[in-house]
Amino acid sequence: MSAATVPKVKFSNGRSMPRLGLGTYESLAGNVERAVKYAIDNGYRHIDTAFFYQNEKEIGNAISEKIKNGTVTREDLFITTKIWNNSHAQDKVVPMCRKSLANLGLDYVDLYLIHWPFGFQEGDELMPKDSNGKLLFSDIDFLDTWKGMEECVRLGLARSIGISNFNSAQITRLMAAATIKPVNNQVEVNVNFTQRPLIEFCKQQNITVTAYSPLGRPGNPNRVNTLDDPRIQTIARKYNKTSAQISLRYLYQLGVTPIPKSVTESRLKENIDIFNFELTPEEVTTIDAVGDQKRIVRFEEAKEHKYYPFSTTF
Ligand SMILES: NC(=O)c1ccc[n+]([C@@H]2O[C@H](COP(=O)([O-])OP(=O)(O)OC[C@H]3O[C@@H](n4cnc5c(N)ncnc54)[C@H](OP(=O)(O)O)[C@@H]3O)[C@@H](O)[C@H]2O)c1
Repeated sequence: MSAATVPKVKFSNGRSMPRLGLGTYESLAGNVERAVKYAIDNGYRHIDTAFFYQNEKEIGNAISEKIKNGTVTREDLFITTKIWNNSHAQDKVVPMCRKSLANLGLDYVDLYLIHWPFGFQEGDELMPKDSNGKLLFSDIDFLDTWKGMEECVRLGLARSIGISNFNSAQITRLMAAATIKPVNNQVEVNVNFTQRPLIEFCKQQNITVTAYSPLGRPGNPNRVNTLDDPRIQTIARKYNKTSAQISLRYLYQLGVTPIPKSVTESRLKENIDIFNFELTPEEVTTIDAVGDQKRIVRFEEAKEHKYYPFSTTF
């Protein structure tokens, strides 16, 4: 797979993003640097991280090495990071963006996202809790956070800005207030939870959708693993592909951008090798019926927050 064959999607601001990226949540120290280098060597140009993942420095090391040794230029790469919930105050956004840039060793990120619509108590703690273990919230309005995000664009720190885990009502509210519009919403989308209403809604708003947990976190012991579903396996045999490749291709054909995470070399190669076949409409319909339409990522500890996004349908 050469990088040139990964298609791109155009944002409403004219910039574009490769239609497959590398996820890095829980890609821990020691693993992630090697994984990112191997991914870049094998055609990945889009890397997804977040301040919360605490791996920006290692990812930055990998990027810097691949630029220095001439494998890629900075302009070839598309790097996303996200502001965490404990920094939602408008005046915290630019300093936090600069902190992520320093970690990554970059002058700008391609996409800066608000990780969640709800905020936590401001400070250094990523998950600030009271003595009973209850999360401490802040009620900072994400519209204020957005003003800080817009400043990141004006200062050239972020080429594009967007959101993550926002529901349709929150998007409507943000679109009405934003001077610089969000170009992307990163949400859970996988075979189990297909999010068709939200994808359609975002499309109408000119907002692209990135699909997180695109493989449904197959190692999760509490869930049915859709990669083992016999309907997916039958389709996989037809194309001489794996269930993971069929699942990622399905998401690609849904119009979203999957960002599968792996630190395993064989899987990194496998997950990008999805652009040389096409599922038929009948196969798409078959896969549509596999999931129970329940999300994996719920962040229930925050469900009492006034900006918790998952209490409504989409
Ligand atoms: N915005 C948000 O709130 C949010 C939330 C969740 C995730 N994300 C982003 O989305 C990315 C992906 O989501 P995720 O990490 O939750 O889940 P995922 O990508 O659906 O699943 C990752 C798991 O699948 C395994 N895997 C990877 N390729 C495979 C293959 N071909 N066959 C079988 N197993 C495979 C990985 O194992 P190995 O690594 O051991 O190979 C890892 O255990 C994250 O890493 C993060 O960047 C964002």
